[in-house]
Amino acid sequence: MRIPGGLVVFVLFCLASAQNFYDKNAHIMELTPKSFDKVVHRTNYTTMVEFYAPWCGYCQQLKGIMQKAAKSLDGIVQIASVNCDLAKNKRLCAQYRVEGFPTLMVFRPPKVDLKKSADSRIALGNHASEIYKGERKLRPIVDFCTSRVKNYVNRIPRIEKMLEILKNSSQSRMQVILFSKRDKISPLYKSLALDWLGVMDFHVFPNSKLQGLSNALEPLGGKFKELLLGLQQDQAFSDSSLLVAFNAETQDYHIYEDQSFDKKDVWKFLSLLAEPREGPYTKRQEYLDAVRKGLQISREEKGQKKTDQCFTMMSCRAT
Ligand SMILES: *[C@@H]1O[C@H](CO)[C@@H](O)[C@H](O)[C@H]1NC(C)=O
Ligand SMILES: *[C@@H]1O[C@H](CO)[C@@H](O)[C@H](O)[C@H]1NC(C)=O
Repeated sequence: MRIPGGLVVFVLFCLASAQNFYDKNAHIMELTPKSFDKVVHRTNYTTMVEFYAPWCGYCQQLKGIMQKAAKSLDGIVQIASVNCDLAKNKRLCAQYRVEGFPTLMVFRPPKVDLKKSADSRIALGNHASEIYKGERKLRPIVDFCTSRVKNYVNRIPRIEKMLEILKNSSQSRMQVILFSKRDKISPLYKSLALDWLGVMDFHVFPNSKLQGLSNALEPLGGKFKELLLGLQQDQAFSDSSLLVAFNAETQDYHIYEDQSFDKKDVWKFLSLLAEPREGPYTKRQEYLDAVRKGLQISREEKGQKKTDQCFTMMSCRAT
């Protein structure tokens, strides 16, 4: 049987210009070869990229889950997607050896050695990629992503160590300490350490270890000693967390008083102390928002109108 040539061309056209899943989604970036490297590799954030094809049933099933995952990972892990059906994206998908849809690939930045000077750090190394092979369900995907966030938060094991950090006035970076019930490091706190990487250092210290430290505080002078003695009273038995930014150089400190541990609130507090490299309200965030809204790719939007027509007519494909 002969298939009329026109029909074949029409179907190919439909497939080739099928609509992106996540256009203008508030938390997912549709990437192209133009934006991919800048979004995925030029950051200290981890990125989960979904390579998909709009016609693929498994991708359609995953769509809602990815939207939810991206929402809950907002500010912690970047979520992006590549529509491998678009002609301009085909090479990108081949480059990452995408063989089936959907392919979930996580990109992890190389560890930055902060002891090295800024110039000698390798800034533009490509991130390591890893394929997600777990269940395509919300919780496992979110857990996997958060487990791949680079951790720059330091657990301070003993009060002596903390004093070393606070006494060291040649320390040019501010030292942020989270006093908390457990010394578990939350993904949100890790993400703050990423935003100020190389600008401020982040630590956790367990509340319980604030008990009975009067003697240990002897070597510490002035304001810091007073503060810590106060914390020994109020914070040592507390279930809540307290964030303090110390400036060892000027012997000054700033306490985050707000109860909310929402990223934007903590972020605002810290951004008054030092300028972050990434995160909300930065130049980079502006760029990411533009990618998310598809702003710099107006030519594509024209293409999409065609796509809509294509989809309404696509029911013809079944005949
Ligand atoms: C990661 O952060 C470090 C320290 O701020 C910086 O030197 C480096 O350029 C960043 N890496 C990337 C890929 O942006
Ligand atoms: C004090 O801080 C400087 C600069 O960060 C660092 O090089 C030095 O090792 C620190 N000294 C101690 C005793 O922690």
